[in-house]
Amino acid sequence: MSTSTNTNSLEDIEEDKLEQLQLTLPNKLWLGKYPTYLYQGFWCLVLEPTISFQTHFQAQDSDIILASLPKSGTTWLKFLIFSVINRNKFPDFSKHPLHTQNPHELVLQFELKLYSKIKGSQPDLTKLPSPRLFATHIPYPSLPDSIKTSKCKIVYVCRNPLDTFISLWHFNLKCERDETITPDMIMKYFENFCKGGFAFGPYEDYILGYWDEHTRNPDKVLFLEYEGLKADPSAQVMRLAEFMGCPFSEEEQKASLVEEIIKLCSLDSLKEKDVNKSGKFYDFVENYALFRKGEVGDWINYLNPSMIKELLHDLHEKLKKSGFSFKYYNE
Ligand code: A3P
Repeated sequence: MSTSTNTNSLEDIEEDKLEQLQLTLPNKLWLGKYPTYLYQGFWCLVLEPTISFQTHFQAQDSDIILASLPKSGTTWLKFLIFSVINRNKFPDFSKHPLHTQNPHELVLQFELKLYSKIKGSQPDLTKLPSPRLFATHIPYPSLPDSIKTSKCKIVYVCRNPLDTFISLWHFNLKCERDETITPDMIMKYFENFCKGGFAFGPYEDYILGYWDEHTRNPDKVLFLEYEGLKADPSAQVMRLAEFMGCPFSEEEQKASLVEEIIKLCSLDSLKEKDVNKSGKFYDFVENYALFRKGEVGDWINYLNPSMIKELLHDLHEKLKKSGFSFKYYNE
């Protein structure tokens, strides 16, 4: 924290503003140790990088941005987007970059990576190959204006609340290795999740931000469901390619390229790669923690249906009132 009063470098001014802002925002500890701030209606885990991203990022019309709540299928979509966009660049799948590079190196995250350590300087994104592929967990209303006003495209993936929560729960247990969080605390954490109290929550507001923009402007925001990708991957990958402006030709379809890409990006194949079994991304998350079961409805193994109904009531009501319903999911 800056204590200086007599310097006026841009860095100090920005830091002073940030300190003042932090003092005014409601805050609480996520997982008992990470400060989160209620910023623009969502629980922000990384305030300074978020503001830096909002202030400085300049979108290009050709950019493709993946948006998602954590544990909704981000990793899978990173694999798919990269493979679909670059299918002509890497036609030999036996030598594909996915065998040796982590998805988080191929599709760059804004607030947790690119803007995460910026003090006064910005990442140089001008040399990235076009189309530039990015990812974010920031809700739609808080995205930088240049993303909203340019012609860049947003691919949004959502997942039903129960499997998102269970995936998050396991991820935290795996990553935190914190003995104060024990399996019997699951209901307490679930209640908190339903009240919106988790990083990047509330869940329903997050979905509705992207849903509303998708309904207003379907060419700008593609709305995908994790469950839809599981149920009919070919149809969803074709939608993805069409939306990104690179539809599969008849020849490519006849040559089963869509199916080949789905196979290349499958959980079973990728979780066994050395690059995904070891190492860390964002400096603090182990790669292996990104891959678990990848199933729809796994929540039933952890949560009692009669206990969760009431807790989910408000969340579902809010989604329903806004005209949103999952196309591929029913509890
Ligand atoms: P589970 O914990 O339910 O298994 P994210 O990438 O947004 O963090 O989401 C993680 C979830 O996506 C985890 O779900 C993980 O297993 C699943 N996942 C990761 N890679 C996948 C893939 N290639 N195909 C399907 N699901 C995948």
